[in-house]
Amino acid sequence: MRSIDPGPDFASWRGTARRLLAEGLKPEEILWERESGLFSETGTPSPDHQVPRSSELTVPKSFLDLARNVACHRDDSRWALLYQILWRLTHGEPDLLEIASDPDVCRARGMAKNVSREIHKMHAFVRFRKAGENHDGRERFTAWFEPEHHIVEAAAPFFRKRFANMDWSILTPKGCAFWNGEELVFTEGVDRDPFENTDQLEEAWRTYYSSIFNPARLKTKAMQAEMPKRYWKNLPEAGLIDSLVRDSRHRLDRMVETTGQTPKPARPVRYLEELREASRDPGAAPFDLTNFARHLDACRRCSLWERATCAVPGEGPADARIMIVGEQPGDREDLEGRPFVGPAGKLLDRALAEAGVDRSHAYLTNAVKHFKWTPRGKHRLHQKPDVGEIEACKTWLLRELDIVAPRVLILLGATAARSSLGPGVSVTRDRGRIDAPQLAERVILTVHPSHLLRLPEKAKAAAEYRRFVADLALAAI
Ligand code: URA
Repeated sequence: MRSIDPGPDFASWRGTARRLLAEGLKPEEILWERESGLFSETGTPSPDHQVPRSSELTVPKSFLDLARNVACHRDDSRWALLYQILWRLTHGEPDLLEIASDPDVCRARGMAKNVSREIHKMHAFVRFRKAGENHDGRERFTAWFEPEHHIVEAAAPFFRKRFANMDWSILTPKGCAFWNGEELVFTEGVDRDPFENTDQLEEAWRTYYSSIFNPARLKTKAMQAEMPKRYWKNLPEAGLIDSLVRDSRHRLDRMVETTGQTPKPARPVRYLEELREASRDPGAAPFDLTNFARHLDACRRCSLWERATCAVPGEGPADARIMIVGEQPGDREDLEGRPFVGPAGKLLDRALAEAGVDRSHAYLTNAVKHFKWTPRGKHRLHQKPDVGEIEACKTWLLRELDIVAPRVLILLGATAARSSLGPGVSVTRDRGRIDAPQLAERVILTVHPSHLLRLPEKAKAAAEYRRFVADLALAAI
């Protein structure tokens, strides 16, 4: 058995594999090991063996295409698998790749598929952030991404084409890519998100800035005098300013129109602006309800996806007047991929009908989009999402809010309240109509229908149900 280093990528493996084929080394005689120490061979051809020229070694183009993708897979056994296929192709099985049921072919195709999917994801989810300027004044953008496979080189040409006029870098633990307007350069990966601390700082700033922002007291001129526009670009909260100004005018107008009075100052709640900020990124994919579910299903922002059947997106018209936010999908919702189709959903349907709200005209969704559960015998027992999971999923709820832009927002229970309004809101204390014009003209906070299902005493349950219907009726007024 010979220990062979395949080198870092497809090109190096290919050179080495060609030499080994010329030597007649069988797959079972090779141990493919990366950086396997003093005694492993490298991809440099050995002088005493002739490397066959490409004309002498003919393999179908489909093999090269397949091998290029498989080579990006994170599985260390990929090199042995590729050599095995290469050996068989060149030793009496030239049509091997046409036999889809062959275990080697099947495995390679599966790996190639994983890699292609991941490349697609990278194209869709890389987000550049401004990270300084070059000495010549050109802005520099950086993105952090954590791919499962070694796909940076394969994915980078897409970004070069799309963002040809901007200097950018994509940093990942599996390699980095840099583009300076002329040349694409790849380097080793970096271990940690370089933005980690800055990010937290920026996030804190943005949250702070959004929460102190009061549309009823907006004085653009004074703001600009204190913070001249030319400095805005270097401030973490700067991305918020334009849209806060624009949005507040819009919302103020609408509120004055509908209520005939100036609204009360808003409570410090968060804005949708971190979302709008994100969608201004040059790499941001545009979202609407036709592609929302696809993007959502690829979400790996927390670990809940691992145990869930699917991510459950919201459901309802994109221009719904009312949006209803629950906690997370339950067992039934997880299996059907639709919100509020289980017992809590049935109760909600009944209460909505009694409150005069037509469910089919509302947009129903959840604060957390994957079912969190723990096994209990044969059942999957619901578990409450924690703050980290709520925060991780908030971006999706914000996107839905931004797309649907409902006039009335109904928050069912503590998780929906935590996600939309931040900490410090209590359903018991703040229940009913609450003042959060940043989210919708009318925001109603009430209990979650599962709470009613859990009440053991009939009389209490009936009374609570009537209160719930009364809360929902605030949406119909
Ligand atoms: N509970 C929720 O909060 N949402 C659902 O979709 C179902 C049950």
